[in-house]
Amino acid sequence: MFAVYAAEPNPDAPLDALVVGERPEPDVPEGFVAVHVEAASLNLHDLWTLRGVGIKAEQFPMILGCDGAGRLDDGSEVVIYPVVGDASIAGDETLDPRRSLLTERLQGTFADVVVVPTRNVLPRPAGLSAAQSAVMGTAWLTAYRMLFVKSGLRPGQTMLVQGASGGVSTALIQLGRAAGMQVWVTGRTDDKRSLAEKLGAHATFASGERLPARVDAVFETVGDATWSHSMRALKPGGAIVVSGATTGPNPGADLQRLFFLQLRVIGSTMGTRNELADLLTFVANAGITPEIGLELPLERAEEGFRAMEAGETGGKIVFTH
Ligand SMILES: NC(=O)c1ccc[n+]([C@@H]2O[C@H](COP(=O)([O-])OP(=O)(O)OC[C@H]3O[C@@H](n4cnc5c(N)ncnc54)[C@H](OP(=O)(O)O)[C@@H]3O)[C@@H](O)[C@H]2O)c1
Repeated sequence: MFAVYAAEPNPDAPLDALVVGERPEPDVPEGFVAVHVEAASLNLHDLWTLRGVGIKAEQFPMILGCDGAGRLDDGSEVVIYPVVGDASIAGDETLDPRRSLLTERLQGTFADVVVVPTRNVLPRPAGLSAAQSAVMGTAWLTAYRMLFVKSGLRPGQTMLVQGASGGVSTALIQLGRAAGMQVWVTGRTDDKRSLAEKLGAHATFASGERLPARVDAVFETVGDATWSHSMRALKPGGAIVVSGATTGPNPGADLQRLFFLQLRVIGSTMGTRNELADLLTFVANAGITPEIGLELPLERAEEGFRAMEAGETGGKIVFTH
C-alpha cells in the first residue's frame, strides 16, 4: 500500500530519512480494526521520529502520522485516538508507564490503511470533515487537556499562549476564545500574530515583549526560547502548563521567582480517550472550525514536512487521500 515512512533515524538531516513509497498491506490482529485513512495531520512528533527521538532503532522502518480520520470496513466514519495504553491505570491511559503513541511501536496514519486497537477509534461527529477531525487526536487533544483539565482557569481569566501559528498554539487560541477566556498570544512575525487575531486572540505581542499586565496562566510548548518570559508573565499563584520544549528542554528554572510568587509548573501530555470524545463534542457544539494552514495530497507530504521544519506553520498541516 501507499505510505509515507521513516526509513531509519537521522538526527542531523531528518528529511533525508523520509520516504514516500510503498509498504506491505498490514494484518489485522484480534482486537484491532483497519481504518481506511481519508485525512491525516502532521505533528512535530513526526519530525522527532525521523530524528530517532522517542523511538527505538529496531522499530524502523516506521510509517509516520499519529493522527487521522477515515472509514472502517463497514463504512462508518471514525477519528483515531493515538495513545495506546491501559485505561485501567488510574483511569487515565496517559499515566500508563508502558503507553505509546502511534508511530512509536504501532505503524502510523500516513498510509492507505492504519491498524489500531478497537478502542482507539471514536465516531466522527456530524459537522466535522475528515480533514478537521484528523487534527484532533494530538495537537487539539493536548491543548484541550492543558486548558480544561490542567490549568484550573475559569472563563474570563487571562491566558497567554507562547507561539501563535503552531498546531497546539492555534488549538489553544480557538478553544480559549470559545470558552470565554481573555486570550493573549506571542508570535514571532506580524503574519503569525495576525493569524492569532483572526482565530480570536484579544491581544498579540512579539516574542519576549513586555505585557501590559500579568496573566493567570501561560501555555508553553516552546521551551528555552520563551521560558523566562513565561515565568515573568504570571500573577502570583499563577500556573505555567507545559507540554513541549521545541527550542530546548532545559530552560533556566528561575527558582526564586517560582517559590517567592508561589507559581505552579504543571506538566501535561496528550489526553484520555474520554477527553478526546469531550473535545469532539465541544468543537462540534461550539461551532469551531479548526484552523488548517496547509492541505496537501499525501503524495506531497514532503512539502508539509519542509514547511514545519522551517517554522512556516499557519495552523495544522493535513494530508488527504
Ligand atoms: N506532550 C504532548 O503530548 C505534546 C503533544 C503535542 C505537541 N507537543 C510538543 O509541543 C511542541 C509544539 O508542537 P506543534 O505540533 O504545535 O508544533 P508546530 O506546529 O511546529 O508549532 C511550533 C510553535 O512553536 C513556536 N516556536 C518555535 N520556535 C520558536 C522560537 N524560537 N521562539 C518562539 N516561538 C517558537 C512557533 O511560534 P510562531 O507561531 O511564533 O512561529 C509555533 O507556534 C513540540 O515540541 C511538540 O513535540 C507535545
